[in-house]
Amino acid sequence: MIKKCLFPAAGYGTRFLPATKAVPKEMLPILTKPLMQYGVEEALSAGITNMAIVTGRGKRAIEDHFDNAYELESQLSGTSKESYLKDIKEIIKKSTFTYTRQKQMLGLGHAILTGEPLIGDEPFAVLLPDVLVLDKPSRPRNYSFVRLVEAWEATGIGQVMVERVGMDTVENYGIADIASTDLEPFSSVELRALVEKPSLEDARSDLAVLGRYILPAKVLDLLSDTTAGVGGEIQLTDALDMLIKEGGLNAFETDASTYDCGNQQGFLGANLAVGMRDAKSRAYLASLIKSLGI
Ligand code: UTP
Repeated sequence: MIKKCLFPAAGYGTRFLPATKAVPKEMLPILTKPLMQYGVEEALSAGITNMAIVTGRGKRAIEDHFDNAYELESQLSGTSKESYLKDIKEIIKKSTFTYTRQKQMLGLGHAILTGEPLIGDEPFAVLLPDVLVLDKPSRPRNYSFVRLVEAWEATGIGQVMVERVGMDTVENYGIADIASTDLEPFSSVELRALVEKPSLEDARSDLAVLGRYILPAKVLDLLSDTTAGVGGEIQLTDALDMLIKEGGLNAFETDASTYDCGNQQGFLGANLAVGMRDAKSRAYLASLIKSLGI
């Protein structure tokens, strides 16, 4: 059973400045809901209730969001606006939140290692909150993440969610090397290696790591043995590569749409994609496009 989900949320979000100067990147809203809440909902869908969050300076809004707001709640109580807080109140009731601060932002691997006291000695999920994963509308919500956890439960082997990005963009991603290139959506197969930002010639597939993992606690030992690379950063990929050699790791393919909301296009795409799932917003977007003469 996976009981804990680790959310690395301490990064500076420099690609999204100036918005992220005082507002945590993970609290940027996709329409009215902050990214962090999408992530927590994803974990809850898979039956995970313990949210372990790695924060940093300037990230207190995350803690406040997942806490009661008595003054606001009593103001809205009995009014038509009360329903706006229904979902977040339910999330707070169902979940336990624990926090630790990353003192120096030394990369994703270091952020995960910083979360060790919150995780202990058990397998855990890792969810990058700035990546929005939207499953096909025909599927239950958060289907991919639920299936990822199921893949761990069925195999007892760590899982790395990957998606097809097209060979022309492999240089921007961590790319999976798997024995068979025709991995089917929602199947889980042995990983031979993970290569960070390979050239087109070196890439063994176009299956890119997107920010959802189920990992054994051993990865924390491997991270602490990992030597820092460029800029003093500890790379998660290096520890995962060691894990492949020492115990095995699987790639799990999703066909969901994903949006890296840490960059402008991803954020815009996420807002449009979520908007397009709502009839009122869809009608608005259609009239907007018409009025712009596009
Ligand atoms: P990113 O690399 O996208 O975040 O990390 P970043 O470093 O904040 O972004 P830029 O490049 O400056 O714009 C993915 C996730 O890992 C967290 C981030 O908060 C984000 O949710 N992270 C990253 C940490 O928690 N600590 C770090 O040192 C780096």
